[in-house]
Amino acid sequence: MSERSYQPLAGKVAVVTGAARGIGRAYAIRLAELGADVAVVDRNLRSFTEVAAEEEAAGGRSTDELIVALGRRTVGLTADVTDPDSIGAAINEVVAALGHLEIVVCNAGGGSGSMTDSLPSHATAQHVETVVQRNLVGTISTCRAAARHIRGQGWGRIVTVSSMAGNMPFRGGGYSIYGAAKAGIEMYTRSLAQELGPHGITVNCLAPGYIATGRLSVMFDNLGSDDLLESVALRRFGTPDDCAGALEFLVTDLGAYVTGTVIPVDGGSMT
Ligand SMILES: NC(=O)c1ccc[n+]([C@@H]2O[C@H](COP(=O)([O-])OP(=O)(O)OC[C@H]3O[C@@H](n4cnc5c(N)ncnc54)[C@H](O)[C@@H]3O)[C@@H](O)[C@H]2O)c1
Repeated sequence: MSERSYQPLAGKVAVVTGAARGIGRAYAIRLAELGADVAVVDRNLRSFTEVAAEEEAAGGRSTDELIVALGRRTVGLTADVTDPDSIGAAINEVVAALGHLEIVVCNAGGGSGSMTDSLPSHATAQHVETVVQRNLVGTISTCRAAARHIRGQGWGRIVTVSSMAGNMPFRGGGYSIYGAAKAGIEMYTRSLAQELGPHGITVNCLAPGYIATGRLSVMFDNLGSDDLLESVALRRFGTPDDCAGALEFLVTDLGAYVTGTVIPVDGGSMT
């Protein structure tokens, strides 16, 4: 986290969902470092306390506290993206508190259950409902609520979040419903880019690979890091900052003529 003299997003307002910890926090901090005022939306604004490594990395401070330390305005809002009324109200509150909205990062999401729970022919109806709501439906509801505010301003950036699981099956078929939901996000992103392009709004998707957040570092150790790294061309796990770098490209003028794409941030991974 650092003050930068390069502030291409000064005067812009951004919202990041699922920004209380992990990759979402890195997105929010990067946007603030680039000069934006950043709203933090999460179902639990202190979710970083659930993971010791996340709490340590943040020095015990919440994402909105870190944004204030950078001299930016922020608002922290508790909302669940699986509930359209909840995320709709939160987006309205962002605009009421910070004045306008130009940048949205739909990061809230994640898998659920074990490799077996998520096999394509075993996944229960409840598992399907949970994972599709948390990822695909949550992303659609967030974009729908935000687009109402961004459209008409002549400039905007919407970034959704998939996964390498959205375009490659894991060996044996695990995390199939998560992969299907993320694939749905990729297709939804392409369509939204077509609709909003004439309004000066780009819409793109980031597809992270193995990113060593506080939560997943433990899982990578349990699965055997050396084996996993054999499948990564760059032979290292990604970091939340690697993802934030790709976001920086998409939301600044560097990515001005890029829309409707999915950008892998996976170090050249094969599942
Ligand atoms: N970490 C990885 O290796 C990886 C790889 C590919 C894709 N992704 C995607 O990146 C995103 C972030 O992943 P992460 O590893 O940082 O996750 P994480 O579990 O560490 O953090 C997710 C955050 O989102 C919040 N959240 C979850 N469900 C929510 C909901 N319904 N409404 C509002 N907030 C909610 C949580 O409280 C938490 O703060 C997810 O969409 C995930 O699918 C992560």
